[in-house]
Amino acid sequence: TLKLALFGDPVEHSLSPEIHRRFGQQTGIALDYRAVRCRGEDFGPRFAAFIVAGGRGANLTVPLKQAGLGVCQQVAAAARTARAVNTLVRREDGWHGDNTDGSGLMLDLQRLGLDPAGKRVLMIGAGGAAAGVLGPLLDRQPALTVILNRTRERAEALAQKFAHRGVVIGGGFDQAGDLNGFDLLIQATSSGHGQALPPLERGWLDARAVAYDLNYGPAHRPFADWCSRQSLVCHDGLGMLVGQAALAFEIWTGRRPQMDPVLAALRSGQT
Ligand code: ATR
Repeated sequence: TLKLALFGDPVEHSLSPEIHRRFGQQTGIALDYRAVRCRGEDFGPRFAAFIVAGGRGANLTVPLKQAGLGVCQQVAAAARTARAVNTLVRREDGWHGDNTDGSGLMLDLQRLGLDPAGKRVLMIGAGGAAAGVLGPLLDRQPALTVILNRTRERAEALAQKFAHRGVVIGGGFDQAGDLNGFDLLIQATSSGHGQALPPLERGWLDARAVAYDLNYGPAHRPFADWCSRQSLVCHDGLGMLVGQAALAFEIWTGRRPQMDPVLAALRSGQT
């Protein structure tokens, strides 16, 4: 039995144990995936205990993704760029840290027929979530990526950091005046957790534009409502969650599970 765990806080309502249980069933791989609630100084000892108990792979979530960089012997480029680890795997030469959040989003966009290649992408937000997806997004070579953020400096700094990887510009909402024609709107702020919404404008987008929110569940509601008022097709981030899990599962097992049946089960609430 493959021993896996999720470390973070909160983890009580995480869908990851359910997702990986279904991936295990689907591929016929016996696994034991548990959520371990811990943060800060508790992480070291809990992770050490997991290793002693035979742990082979782990996921990290808030607030431990950065701390994850400190427990691995090798760090993959995606995790180094995002300065965050969401997936750990035990290899012969020690623990390897990776980050499948951004590539999980790309996998879901591909599934939805929304490949950003050659498209004009508008990303709202410049926090940890935005930083985590920007590398894999730019790897798809969009024609243009604009990052808008409440705190302008943060968007500018993020754009600067990725400037060598594509055409990427950062700014504040007050500078967005004459933006238009974007094909894909990516909502990467955490504002939905407070049932709030950034100051978005339909005029920034092409008539056939599509929106994607990195959030799902109640935090997705305000953005979903705005999109529906604007007659804008919008996807929530549940597919990204399943996508990042599918890529983590592949890192642990060498097998890429199917996302669709798991997504369908989660959406119909058969958990
Ligand atoms: P996360 O890891 O979810 O990205 P974060 O790093 O704290 O969390 O970043 C939160 C993001 O949501 C930031 O872009 C933040 O904007 P600021 O950089 O100006 O703080 C954005 N955000 C949060 N609440 C918001 C709100 N009510 N309106 C607009 N943007 C908001």
